[in-house]
Amino acid sequence: MGILDGKAAVVTGGGRGIGRGHCLALGANGASVIVNDLERAVAQEVVDEISAKGGKASVNTDDIGTRAGAKGLIGQCVSEFGGIHAIVNNAGNVRDRSFLKMTDEEFSDVLRVHAQGTFMCSQEAALRMKDQGSGGSIVNTISAAHFGNFGQTNYAASKGAIASMTYTWAMELARYGIRVNAISPRGSTRMSATYKGPDGKEVQLPFIDPNLNGHFVSFLCSDEADYISGQAFGSGGDWVALVNQPKYGTAMIKPGGWQLDEIREHFKAQLGGQLEPIGLMKKPYPFYDGIKPPKK
Ligand SMILES: NC(=O)c1ccc[n+]([C@@H]2O[C@H](COP(=O)([O-])OP(=O)(O)OC[C@H]3O[C@@H](n4cnc5c(N)ncnc54)[C@H](O)[C@@H]3O)[C@@H](O)[C@H]2O)c1
Repeated sequence: MGILDGKAAVVTGGGRGIGRGHCLALGANGASVIVNDLERAVAQEVVDEISAKGGKASVNTDDIGTRAGAKGLIGQCVSEFGGIHAIVNNAGNVRDRSFLKMTDEEFSDVLRVHAQGTFMCSQEAALRMKDQGSGGSIVNTISAAHFGNFGQTNYAASKGAIASMTYTWAMELARYGIRVNAISPRGSTRMSATYKGPDGKEVQLPFIDPNLNGHFVSFLCSDEADYISGQAFGSGGDWVALVNQPKYGTAMIKPGGWQLDEIREHFKAQLGGQLEPIGLMKKPYPFYDGIKPPKK
């Protein structure tokens, strides 16, 4: 008996890296799994691994960043497994370049796969879950890069959009019994091998087993997690962490509102010393001495 017995799940980008780990864990815990990936060979290997252990899985090679691909993917899950109970939106790409050099294509390629793909696949899945009346679980994939990360305008924007969609869908879909959460996974993968520091140089990171995220994803897809929605988590490596969600902090309040002269007079004393740390590493606010144009 597994905690996902009788459930059908879809994992996008499940052919390698973190998505492969999700597929193996979901399959081992009893779910029937559609392993989606643009690359058939890697997806087939994952299906074979699941089948060899007595699980049920099938390959799908649709491009999840298109409406036709999203429809085909979810339709395949329903026609092969009789329904859909979980989708893990994991597929992703990177086209890193600093903001001033990033091309329109680099920006839209990444938004298309991450943000648009998550939107379209989740919508197709949620419509089926609603029709089935079964409820379900949507697990999206974000990254600490959405706090801001050098060279990742497109990727950070995608992950920020996915975080905001997660919170929004949790509110909209609860009435259908559908839960929506996000993970910010960790793992040594083809993608993590591309990470660079702020100096543009490659970073040597310690090995983290990408398969470790799959256990938490299985939990989120199970009925035991029926009280969890609208949450974002760090997962993988040695932790499961709650991600603090953005909210208003310290405020300066004045009945009737602030006029420009009053803002100029009070801002620095009231809020100017408490500006938020920025970026993925959350280093202390770095600009208290002012940001000036470069000297000619
Ligand atoms: N590796 C990390 O440490 C890390 C950290 C934070 C977030 N993430 C996120 O985790 C997810 C998986 O990352 P990974 O490191 O395993 O990456 P990866 O590059 O190793 O694997 C991604 C897979 O997605 C597939 N894919 C890409 N575009 C697709 C499309 N349009 N349709 C279908 N499949 C597509 C690729 O073929 C590939 O097999 C991504 O969303 C990534 O942003 C990873």
